Amino acid sequence: MEATMTQTTTMRAAVIHRFGGPEVVQVERVHKPVPKADELLVRVHASTVSIADHRTRSRDLPKGMWFYIPLALGVFRPRRRVLGMDAAGVVEAVGDEVTGFAPGDEVIAMLGASFGAHAEYACVPQADAIAQKPRNLTFEESASLVFGGYTALAYLNRVQLGTGSEVLVNGASGAVGTAVVQLAKQRGATVTGVCSAGKADLVRSLGADHVIDRAREDFAASGRTYDVIVECGGDAPFTRVEHSLRPGGALLLVITGLGGMLAASRQTRRSGKTVTFTPGPVSHDDLAGLSRLAEEGGIRPVIDRTYDLDDIVEAHRYVDSGRKRGNVVLRIP
Ligand SMILES: NC(=O)c1ccc[n+]([C@@H]2O[C@H](COP(=O)([O-])OP(=O)(O)OC[C@H]3O[C@@H](n4cnc5c(N)ncnc54)[C@H](OP(=O)(O)O)[C@@H]3O)[C@@H](O)[C@H]2O)c1
Repeated sequence: MEATMTQTTTMRAAVIHRFGGPEVVQVERVHKPVPKADELLVRVHASTVSIADHRTRSRDLPKGMWFYIPLALGVFRPRRRVLGMDAAGVVEAVGDEVTGFAPGDEVIAMLGASFGAHAEYACVPQADAIAQKPRNLTFEESASLVFGGYTALAYLNRVQLGTGSEVLVNGASGAVGTAVVQLAKQRGATVTGVCSAGKADLVRSLGADHVIDRAREDFAASGRTYDVIVECGGDAPFTRVEHSLRPGGALLLVITGLGGMLAASRQTRRSGKTVTFTPGPVSHDDLAGLSRLAEEGGIRPVIDRTYDLDDIVEAHRYVDSGRKRGNVVLRIP
């Protein structure tokens, strides 16, 4: 009887008790979360190990972001013990105030900075981004859409794109970049992707009209200009790319350091071009739209490798290598 109680009130999760390398992650039994009135309890079947997990685990933050450590990550020990920002799974229970979802629904969810998806169960507030999973995709494929897709929507929703718009995506081969390339194409833009040579075929296969090998060509020195530059690579601050932006154009800084953040509004005022590091809101409808788009084949999952929860250390090690293409999926059987 006691053993049964333990099984039903605990779950397996990948836990970090200290900051450090991949080896600090270990699979343990922890308390199973209990949903509040406005939350759904999701049996997670798949998540991804993302750059956000890497950064949170290792405190490898963009330049100057030290102030973020005590606030968000924890001073001596990690504030978030269970990582994992995205999930695909099945609703197990819903709180009294939850509407529109029921036990048995297959869903995708973005937990964002709350983390917690590298576990058998996670609680998701209904107010967060949660939507029905694409019916024709597996849990692994569905999970791989969320982190990059959600982030891409958050930034692309800040600009108007249409036929004739020219978009350059720096860091086009990562989780975010692969989603930005596909969503910008969906919105009618002509897309140039910048990445390393070995990942050029991937970026082209996602619909990029042009691909630039970042080791061989400096796009910012070519004289070509774009309406929107989406910076996902880390080496394209405004000071470098200003002259690659057309008048009235926008630089969307998915990644920047403290200096880039502090300078953004001054650069905007001075240049008349939009420089922003702030993601826009992503609604339930946006995530549901992403799910439907995936069902129709308008955005496809980009999965590099898939690991089981028991192999979580290897998954983190691969993400740390910087070699990943798109997403590294975590399967939680
Ligand atoms: N602001 C937000 O809300 C938010 C949300 C998600 C992610 N992010 C940040 O956005 C960035 C991209 O995330 P992600 O998940 O796509 O990461 P990722 O999957 O690791 O991809 C990183 C991308 O950057 C490229 N890259 C690596 N080193 C580079 C360098 N020295 N110069 C230029 N490009 C380089 C990589 O491609 P190649 O190897 O092909 O060059 C790859 O395309 C990360 O820094 C992440 O922290 C921010």
